[in-house]
Amino acid sequence: MIDAQNLSFSYDFSSTLIEDMSFQVAAGEIFGFLGPSGAGKSTLQKILCGILRNYRGQVTVMDREVKKTSEDFYTQIGVDFEFPNLYSKFTGLENLTYFASLYGRNDLDPYPHLERIGLSGDMHKKVSSYSKGMKMRLAFVRAILHQPRLLFLDEPTSGLDPAYARILKDMILEQKEAGRTVILTTHNMHDAEELCDRVAFIVDGEIRALDTPAALRSRETGVKVRFTYENSEQILSGHAPLESLKSHPDFMHHLQNGTLRSIHSREPTLEDVFIELTGRHLS
Ligand SMILES: Nc1ncnc2c1ncn2[C@@H]1O[C@H](COP(=O)(O)OP(=O)(O)OP(=O)(O)O)[C@@H](O)[C@H]1O
Ligand SMILES: [Mg+2]
Repeated sequence: MIDAQNLSFSYDFSSTLIEDMSFQVAAGEIFGFLGPSGAGKSTLQKILCGILRNYRGQVTVMDREVKKTSEDFYTQIGVDFEFPNLYSKFTGLENLTYFASLYGRNDLDPYPHLERIGLSGDMHKKVSSYSKGMKMRLAFVRAILHQPRLLFLDEPTSGLDPAYARILKDMILEQKEAGRTVILTTHNMHDAEELCDRVAFIVDGEIRALDTPAALRSRETGVKVRFTYENSEQILSGHAPLESLKSHPDFMHHLQNGTLRSIHSREPTLEDVFIELTGRHLS
């Protein structure tokens, strides 16, 4: 579905933001770009969906060089931008019917999506009165409404409460079940782990690792232990790998003193692997 070879990009030619990236995305995959703020994820999405065209290297999307695509390309992709660009003087429903008409699709019924995502009661209100989360939900419906083969979602759950984030994630998984390909940009490792078939770790415009979430997680071995202890009437915390706990001076001291207050063990997360491989935190 997507084949990027030696992709490089800069906004101003003084510094290269995306540096020699190569990757492929298969049809039917949910493929994640995971990385900290400023890593270049949204820029990458804008290149892949044909907005930024002055890149170097080859980027074919649905068998066409993306900088040379024409209008019919846009009927086959759906894009949910990081900052929803909706018409604020239109109602929610008018926004959807207007965009559907641009795709030449007057046969689409947005109501089931709006109902599902909790916007049917507000669909006749102007978007200027919507909250950030409502705009995010409406923009998501707009991206999927015309049943595109390829979907680009940039931080689709940001600003959503856990209940709506859950519904939206279920709807993303249903897109995959319907055979669609999804590019998901996120710095939320839980979303990446739950939704993505494969994840690329992006730092400073480079892919530092690319694999399934399970394979990435298996690179980090060993259970981690976090403990809290009382010291001069303060509760302090420490952490160590499980296997080296017995040689951890604070842990052993407070265990013997009876001042240990809690112990939690946990399996390595995708974020642990991210930090190990990139030396950077996700947020
Ligand atoms: N239109 C632009 N012109 C110049 N520089 C830009 C432009 N858009 C983004 N940048 C710069 O490119 C870098 C990467 O930005 P980008 O939005 O791709 O990051 P991101 O990984 O999506 O970050 P976030 O997680 O915060 O959304 C940043 O340093 C940003 O300032
Ligand atoms: Mg971004």
